[in-house]
Amino acid sequence: PRSMLRTARLTADEAGLAEAAAILKRGGLVAFPTETVYGLGADATNAEAVAGIYAAKERPSFNPLISHLESFEAAKVQGLFDETAQKLAEAFWPGPLTLVVPVAPTCTVSDLARAGLDSVGLRVPAHPLAHALLTATGRPVAAPSANRSGRVSPTDADHVLGDLDGRIDAVLEGGASDVGVESTIIACLGGTPRLLRPGGVPREAIEALIGQHLDTGPEGGKGPLAPGMLASHYAPRAQVRLNATEIKPGEAALLFGPTPLQGAEQAKTHLNLSKNGDPKEAAAHLFSYLRQLDASGAQTIAVAPVPETGLGEAINDRLRRAAAER
Ligand code: TXA
Ligand code: MG
Repeated sequence: PRSMLRTARLTADEAGLAEAAAILKRGGLVAFPTETVYGLGADATNAEAVAGIYAAKERPSFNPLISHLESFEAAKVQGLFDETAQKLAEAFWPGPLTLVVPVAPTCTVSDLARAGLDSVGLRVPAHPLAHALLTATGRPVAAPSANRSGRVSPTDADHVLGDLDGRIDAVLEGGASDVGVESTIIACLGGTPRLLRPGGVPREAIEALIGQHLDTGPEGGKGPLAPGMLASHYAPRAQVRLNATEIKPGEAALLFGPTPLQGAEQAKTHLNLSKNGDPKEAAAHLFSYLRQLDASGAQTIAVAPVPETGLGEAINDRLRRAAAER
């Protein structure tokens, strides 16, 4: 792993943005806020810089990364958009959507960031600081979530430093991410568009826009969804027990909705993702509450059922990975 760098905390002002852009342009690593989660950014056109992302995260293999752009115009230099991809980009960018499209002849994203594929993952984030940073950098920025491989994704700058302090050049501080789960990934590679990862844009909104159902899962139905989507991910130190209908003494509890679970008063500690049962509010709290419950020292985090509608699909996806065998 990269040995001790001094990780700078950059503030969300002109000087901080200029410094963050300068570090990226010279091949360094900068964590920055997006509306989904904090990303660990590197110049996507610089393979050496991209390799630094894998080293800092201790990511075991070279999975394709999402390249972030300031605008749809800039994305069109990198990828080829068919009619559906164009429609999705126009409706949901800037925002929590990633499109996997064929590589354009003008693409400058390095082979390493694409893991050698002839497609490329592109996203135009909505967070104003992310947008300003991408504009100042003037090139595609590869950015997976800014956590060590396998751990819970970061939704604020302190989470980032908890995992990556001393391994990256800087973190740009921008408060809490308001969507709270990663972007929805749709592959538009000809034929029916495919949902590779549920995320910040609900499936229902996408299907309503394009007037058809998305294909789900990998072609052929086996193997990981998107390369790099391991079963175990987002893992706290504690065990995670899903669909709990009661809390056992000493467990930490992650609740959802107005109805209290039986035994909640004996829990070591409990947090409610959304007392109103709003999946959007729940998504925004998911990762930071998992971290807080983990910090209680409980052996097990019991999680109440969350409905599959709207952002519930993405929440349940992340919870299943957090609970998966390691
Ligand atoms: O919200 C997000 O998407 C965050 C923020 C920082 O933007 N980023 C993020 O990136 O989650 P990452 O690298 O952790 O997720 C990349 C996912 C991987 O599962 C990868 O397999 C998939 O996107 N992906 C990227 N390019 C792809 C491609 N060409 N084909 C198939 N899957 C691709
Ligand atoms: Mg991640």
